[in-house]
Amino acid sequence: MIKHREQQHHFIPHSRPTLGTEEIKAVSEVIASGHIAEGAIVKEFEQKFADYLNVKHAVATTSGTSALHLALLALEVGPGDEVIIPSYVCCALLNAVNYAGATAVLADICPNTCNLDAADVKKRLSSRTKAIIVPHLFGMAADLNPLLALDVPIIEDCAQAVGAVYNQRPVGTFGVAAVYSFYATKVITTGEGGMVVCNAKDIAERIRDLKTYDQKDDYKIRFNYKMTDIQAALGIVQLAQLNSILRRRKAIADQYTRAFKVLDLNLPPDDSGQIFFRYVIGLKTDSRSGIEALSRKGIGCDRPVYLPLHRQIKLKGYPVTEKAWKNSLSLPIYPSLTDEAVTRVIGAVLDTASKISRLFK
Ligand SMILES: Cc1ncc(COP(=O)(O)O)c(C=O)c1O
Repeated sequence: MIKHREQQHHFIPHSRPTLGTEEIKAVSEVIASGHIAEGAIVKEFEQKFADYLNVKHAVATTSGTSALHLALLALEVGPGDEVIIPSYVCCALLNAVNYAGATAVLADICPNTCNLDAADVKKRLSSRTKAIIVPHLFGMAADLNPLLALDVPIIEDCAQAVGAVYNQRPVGTFGVAAVYSFYATKVITTGEGGMVVCNAKDIAERIRDLKTYDQKDDYKIRFNYKMTDIQAALGIVQLAQLNSILRRRKAIADQYTRAFKVLDLNLPPDDSGQIFFRYVIGLKTDSRSGIEALSRKGIGCDRPVYLPLHRQIKLKGYPVTEKAWKNSLSLPIYPSLTDEAVTRVIGAVLDTASKISRLFK
């Protein structure tokens, strides 16, 4: 395991990649081969990812954002169309809808899972609704059945949910397409990177066509959204480690849950299909002072969503999102977190809870 500067200074960062010697070896081999752009290694990563999910097509991209953009374009989403997305999510979704020239319609979330509320989505459907983007936030599957029943094409956003399961089936296999992000601190990483998966050949072909601009006879706007073989080499190693990555996340989450049960907190729902990309606790009031108190103790923690989208674009409403955003606190959870660090996080939370009890009671 590589020792990071923060570790040496006893600050426990909120998130961090988990990398080792196998990743260094794989990347070095690509560099030594002299072929560093998109090539055979990207193909291998795509095939391994498709096999892992048991889907027909996987197309690697530069990021989760570009994966979303291409998925929307492949569904022929464009100007005049509406796409429903939750407010409680990062800006990448709003950006992707705007890149496609469509209009984002924000919906509220369920209080227990922080995922899209199908009843609220239903109220916002219109004749122009072309797609719904459904994130599986913090590693927990959204309740997909009521969303699928709305009969609008669904793009699953699995950026935070590689390995999460809904009704005994991996997320990413329910919608017409699903996207992944392999940013540095995601479940598995390629530094930056993404993937679109789907079963429909025509969707996969459109995505492949749009992600690369060179050597085409028919001019139209296309993109350079290609992953490199250097990135894919990282991804192949990380994907092979997925089971141990998920086991370690679950073990840390179990320790947190056992320790925090004594506190009057909203702990993550007890859902066997979730992968604990984030360990988010719900306080009784604004989490800012809890975040600051823990940071002073050397524990990196934060609100898990920086600013909800309705606030970004100055809309009112979205009461469930508002409350979740204000009161949530996300603790460090990643495979390279040592047992000693886990013990320190638990001690700091219990100590903070006893000192500023109004946050926790
Ligand atoms: C739910 C969700 N979707 C999409 C993205 C965008 O991924 P990327 O940062 O790879 O563009 C993220 C990234 O943080 C995310 O959390």
